[in-house]
Amino acid sequence: MDDAALDASLDLDAALAAIGAATSLDALDELARVLTGKKSPVAAVKVGIKDLPNDRKPVVGAAVKAFTAAVAEALDARRAEIERQAAATHGPAVDLTLGTHGRRRGHLHLITQTQRELEDVFVSLGSQVAEGPEVEDDWHNFEALNFPPGHPARAMQDTFYVQLGEPEQVVLRTHTSPVQIRVMETQPPPIFSIMPGRVYRNEAPSPRNSSVFHQIEGLAVDRGITFGDLAGTMQAFTTAYFGEGVQSRLLPSYFPVTEPSAEYGVSCPFCGGSGCRVCSHTGWIELGGCGMIDPNVLRNVGVDPEEYSGFAFGFGIERMPMIKYGVQPIKTFFDDDVRFLEQY
Ligand code: DAH
Repeated sequence: MDDAALDASLDLDAALAAIGAATSLDALDELARVLTGKKSPVAAVKVGIKDLPNDRKPVVGAAVKAFTAAVAEALDARRAEIERQAAATHGPAVDLTLGTHGRRRGHLHLITQTQRELEDVFVSLGSQVAEGPEVEDDWHNFEALNFPPGHPARAMQDTFYVQLGEPEQVVLRTHTSPVQIRVMETQPPPIFSIMPGRVYRNEAPSPRNSSVFHQIEGLAVDRGITFGDLAGTMQAFTTAYFGEGVQSRLLPSYFPVTEPSAEYGVSCPFCGGSGCRVCSHTGWIELGGCGMIDPNVLRNVGVDPEEYSGFAFGFGIERMPMIKYGVQPIKTFFDDDVRFLEQY
């Protein structure tokens, strides 16, 4: 094979032009097959080397090697270029085999779960859900709820003050009861509403007390609402939330917002009332306050107590999972330690 025949078989310019014009990785694979595969001209030249005169063998061998290497290099370069262009238009390829190494999926906080369970029970009893601000004025947090300035009942609530005294005292709400006032101020009876939310007390932390916690408040106002409706509602809630067989009871108590007032408790769901550690061997667990809305409170929001009556209740949300799962101290809910939270 002379030089002219060799040049004709190994047309590097034509090969490089074809590679440069290829626009896909598939086209490059095809070119690799055509240019340097088993049936390519260069393969035929290589097979023919053994029949050449000895002095031609190294020349043709070197030409084959140079051609093959140049084609391989051009194919690699063009392949890289096509991949770069694809990444620029479509973004980098996603490696679906790459593991996430145990990335964990979060879920709702135990308090949020409990709040939603409580909401579900009351909504199924026909209640609406309302919310109010955590920073409250004196009127909504105290005065309209029948705690006049200087009234000793204010001392029952250790208050965080945002702004003291005149012109307007501003506090972090100490209970969810101010939302009762806001609901009654904005909608006429009949009202059947629950009001969950975060509340604040300036108390020394203890296993059962935290300066921030949650309450759920309930309010019913209509013509002819009686203490019997309150007792029936508390029992319906008790059965729905704690299960058949758990009893509710109302003991005489005092709260400024209600008259008469009662302490709401349930027979211990753990021992059935016979006495155990959870209920301090009393057979009962106290959950919160309730009563018939004081006529003064109705008057404060422009509702005529001669025409309407109502009941209200309020209790702590943390108390439910504390009882159910034995969680203590209460600050565990607010420490945000995932080793605790992921259990629920
Ligand atoms: N607001 C009271 C507290 O935090 C609880 C309470 C008692 C709410 C009686 C009520 C109620 O709605 O009727 O101590």
